[in-house]
Amino acid sequence: MTTADDSLPATAPRPARPPRAVPAGDGPALPTPSGWFCLALSGELRRGAVLTRRFATEDVVLYRTRRGEVRATRPYCPHMGAHLGVGGTVEGDTLVCPFHRFAFGADGGCVSDPDGVLLRTGVAHLPVLERNGFLYVWHGHDDEPPGWELPALPGPEVRPTAHWAVETDTHPQEVVENVTDFRHLGTLHRLAVRQMTPAAADGPYLRTNLRSVAGRIPFFGTLSWEKSTLMAGLGWTLTQLELPRFGMAVHLWGLPTPIGPWRTVLRVAAACEITDPERVPGPDLPAVRAALTRTVARSTLRMTARIIRQDVPIWNHKRYEPRPRLAAGDQSVGIYRHWVRQFYPPGAN
Ligand code: FES
Ligand SMILES: [Fe+2]
Repeated sequence: MTTADDSLPATAPRPARPPRAVPAGDGPALPTPSGWFCLALSGELRRGAVLTRRFATEDVVLYRTRRGEVRATRPYCPHMGAHLGVGGTVEGDTLVCPFHRFAFGADGGCVSDPDGVLLRTGVAHLPVLERNGFLYVWHGHDDEPPGWELPALPGPEVRPTAHWAVETDTHPQEVVENVTDFRHLGTLHRLAVRQMTPAAADGPYLRTNLRSVAGRIPFFGTLSWEKSTLMAGLGWTLTQLELPRFGMAVHLWGLPTPIGPWRTVLRVAAACEITDPERVPGPDLPAVRAALTRTVARSTLRMTARIIRQDVPIWNHKRYEPRPRLAAGDQSVGIYRHWVRQFYPPGAN
């Protein structure tokens, strides 16, 4: 028997996002900065899979060949414009368009079609990087190639064991600015911290160092901690939280990616590493240690998510101030504003 409800889709459509309560600024949205931006976790793109992700104002189609190589391309087939992420398939080393089955290979060129006719043009691959379990795509103004690398962690590759993501009505510049805005850590997040040195810039990298007065670390109780955050462009931050008393260090990634004007998805992930096995509490058994590091990573991620949830309403409703009236103590924000200019075309921010 058919009822009226049978005509409803199985999944309710996502409600339209309400408009921003106030404009983010008087001028146009900040442009997309140049740099590396995370589009997915490695585990979201298995061999032979195709994945579409929004990046700035356009879709990017990611795919992984049968041999495991990751590629990223602009979405539209050069033949007649089909979206390669909607029905496109990976066949061996190629991405095959669903419409007329032209296939595109490693350099983006057309390598086959069912009739034996090749297109003279190909798809435009974007620079892509897979590191520590994340997939990054490079954005360069006027398609300029990558001018710098994301920093690598020393030693064997560390992969995060805990993830979380949130969308917010802001721009990655405003998200990353939080790292240098020490004043808000006490007022908004109620964290008692001391800035060790002002933010230090080195080309596309910027570093800050903090020490807590006495923070509460989940699982460990109350203790003071030191953390340094390294920023690489406006899409990548890595915070290292040292816990020498317990022989551990936590790595915390904050990866904001623009998905529209004043719209950003912020991915956060955590991994815990044993740095001094002698100091780690509990028996030295691999399964116990793995469970312990996962627990520490998950707890740190939860604590971080709680802090970021306090930032989100501020980001969603604040106005972008191109020339903020900085006060004494905001020195690192000033250094940051100067540093970010390199990621935009001249005069853009
Ligand atoms: S539109 Fe892609 S093969 Fe024709
Ligand atoms: Fe914050």
